Amino acid sequence: MSARTNTADGTPLYGCMGLGGGWDTTPYGPADIAHAEAAVEAALDTGITAFDHADIYRYGKSEAVFGEVLSRAAGLRERITLQTKCGIRLPEDGRPGLYDLRGPTIARRVEESLARLRTDVLDVLLLHRPDPLADPAEIAATLTSLHRQGLVRRFGVSNMSAPQIARLQAHLELPLTVNQLEMSLHRRDWVEEGVLVNTSAGAGVGYPAGTTEYCLAHGIRLQAWGALAGGRFADPEATPAGRLVAELAARKGTSPETVVLWWLQRHPAGIAPVIGTTRPARIRACRDAVARTPELSHEEWYELWTAARGAPLP
Ligand SMILES: NC(=O)c1ccc[n+]([C@@H]2O[C@H](COP(=O)([O-])OP(=O)(O)OC[C@H]3O[C@@H](n4cnc5c(N)ncnc54)[C@H](OP(=O)(O)O)[C@@H]3O)[C@@H](O)[C@H]2O)c1
Repeated sequence: MSARTNTADGTPLYGCMGLGGGWDTTPYGPADIAHAEAAVEAALDTGITAFDHADIYRYGKSEAVFGEVLSRAAGLRERITLQTKCGIRLPEDGRPGLYDLRGPTIARRVEESLARLRTDVLDVLLLHRPDPLADPAEIAATLTSLHRQGLVRRFGVSNMSAPQIARLQAHLELPLTVNQLEMSLHRRDWVEEGVLVNTSAGAGVGYPAGTTEYCLAHGIRLQAWGALAGGRFADPEATPAGRLVAELAARKGTSPETVVLWWLQRHPAGIAPVIGTTRPARIRACRDAVARTPELSHEEWYELWTAARGAPLP
């Protein structure tokens, strides 16, 4: 067993989207706070110290219950990295949802997140999705101002392609440090894109070409949302990939959850999984994804990939 040596790379975050009650505006209650407390405690026990939010999760209630947890645990804020996102507006007043990266909207959303999270500063702010109408110069000016005011330490993006990141970075002196994308053993287009070049199978891959390599080259940390694939590989009876995950877990003396996360972490981009389960036992099952360097051989990594895709590589 080898201990993880570089905790800056690939170290998981806990994703808070499941905390705060329903996806509606009904107020949260004591049971929602207790649910959040148990999840945060399990994450901390597991060695996770970075927490991922967004202003929209559960209509702001994910941030709000997390703020309650922080207010009850003296010194916790100083021990953790707090990341949130802005840029998506949920449907309201009969209008469909939309993306909004206008400067004043970003600034207002940051103020609201700080109040809900009961903190003075965000460690990381991500722009949740690209807004085709946004002006990158205006975004850059807003981010710079938030940084100068001491409200946000670092910035990143989510669900963005290499050209979109490059366009924004050209206007921004501060470095963009994160790109959060859906990546897992189930959602594999981020890696398939690179090997299906010039094949008919490649035509079906929607991932923006070169984004993984761009992030790697520019020191932009890739974070994987949906990293546990919603538990798709947890049942060894359900699929051949689930069976292989269980076999590898038994052989390595770890959990199936860890094997699924190791598959991402084994890639040289140092992908950091964002763990979204709210069940303490499942969170704790991810312990070896924090404590151990991924123990998958070259061959085992490819075996898992092939089993999950259900077809050999070209
Ligand atoms: N940037 C973005 O656009 C974006 C989008 C979505 C999410 N995110 C972030 O990424 C985090 C993780 O994403 P996610 O929640 O979609 O992905 P996930 O961790 O792959 O899936 C977790 C979900 O799957 C359920 N699940 C069922 N069986 C499971 C099992 N055996 N193991 C694990 N989970 C199981 C969980 O329910 P239980 O809670 O009952 O276990 C939970 O609802 C979110 O919390 C959020 O912070 C970001």
